[in-house]
Amino acid sequence: MGLTVGVVSESAPGERRVALVPGAVSVLTKTGAQILMEAGAGARAGFSDSEYVEKGVRIAASRQEVFAAADVMLQVRGPGANPEAAAADLALYRRGQTVIGFGEPLTAADAARELAARGVTFLAMELMPRITRAQSMDALSSMATIAGYKAVLIAADHLQRMFPMLMTAAGTLAPARVLVIGAGVAGLQAIATARRLGAVVSGYDIRSAVKEQIESLGARFVVLDVEAGGAEDKGGYAKAMGEDFYRRQREALGAVLAENQVVIATAAVPGKKAPILITREMAARMAPGSVIVDIAAERGGNCESTRPGEVVEAGGVRIFGPVNLASTIPYHASQMYAKNISTFLKYLIGKDGALALNREDEIVRETLVTDAGEVVHPRVRELVGLPSPQEV
Ligand SMILES: NC(=O)c1ccc[n+]([C@@H]2O[C@H](COP(=O)([O-])OP(=O)(O)OC[C@H]3O[C@@H](n4cnc5c(N)ncnc54)[C@H](O)[C@@H]3O)[C@@H](O)[C@H]2O)c1
Repeated sequence: MGLTVGVVSESAPGERRVALVPGAVSVLTKTGAQILMEAGAGARAGFSDSEYVEKGVRIAASRQEVFAAADVMLQVRGPGANPEAAAADLALYRRGQTVIGFGEPLTAADAARELAARGVTFLAMELMPRITRAQSMDALSSMATIAGYKAVLIAADHLQRMFPMLMTAAGTLAPARVLVIGAGVAGLQAIATARRLGAVVSGYDIRSAVKEQIESLGARFVVLDVEAGGAEDKGGYAKAMGEDFYRRQREALGAVLAENQVVIATAAVPGKKAPILITREMAARMAPGSVIVDIAAERGGNCESTRPGEVVEAGGVRIFGPVNLASTIPYHASQMYAKNISTFLKYLIGKDGALALNREDEIVRETLVTDAGEVVHPRVRELVGLPSPQEV
């Protein structure tokens, strides 16, 4: 007998994504799994119940029925990533049930402790290792792709100018100048999107390895006169730098900033607060009407003035701190997420159709937060004040 996989409506306020889309159902049903879904779970993302039913999904009589019957729950926002509304669901999880989803285990470690106490096995999507064989399960990259794209649309929508250069009978319009700070997954997508709209784009990153990627998208790579040797860790991420480095970086960035009317800020360091790269004064030195879209807002922001979920105006410059951008493009965000999570679950299912969590495997080891009544992830254990596994 295959697994029963449950999908419910996302309960976080404003969340429009869904964990599974009709197109990803067959990946799971081929393993013998049956899918049980709460009615309307995909509606806010643009997927009707009938599309799921056509793919063999059974619609449950209630949300409670899904929790009660599922061996594995697939969610976008698990308890740690849904502080406002997850409490109602917590009581519905069953001992022995497995939950896969985002859960912010490194910032909301208490939720992990709660899940462990309830005997729930939790695998966190944001802990997926960035290794080649896990690329198709990498939901952070998927969501960053959407966020980078949408950030540019927000900027274009609020700028007093058009993005492309136009030569018209009424004269020539100069193209908008866009600076993208941080050329990871979101930043590169922002560069590509701003280029498609015709802006003159430059990109900056502390990791010089991204130079070619920025240039291949038709943007200029900004070189700052600050030594950032060894800024990349072995996983390809930026390392946290000292405050002295960030200060010199801000000084050098100030002049570049003032040459642009749009800044898309995406700089982040895994597990840390985002570095402040734009002070209030730097923002104020941009031309009035300039727009900063700070998509690092959820992690504290790259701009000193950023307020998550708000728009701040200072000296005619508007600073947007959007949160959960992926949910504003729910159809494609859900499509990508569903591909990631269904590939992951399939990977965890053995030949007999049952769940087989091999803790020796890097993908399982890195993502497994709770199991058999315990918080098992070493970093999360540390955060909740438990001794490291070796000491137990
Ligand atoms: N499966 C894979 O192999 C895989 C998948 C995704 C990402 N990656 C690697 O990880 C990299 C970054 O991924 P991400 O987008 O999730 O990163 P991220 O969201 O952690 O950071 C975004 C960007 O900000 C940059 N940054 C950090 N501090 C900065 C500073 N002070 N000034 C300027 N820029 C700064 C980082 O270098 C990064 O490019 C990728 O470019 C890639 O090399 C690998």
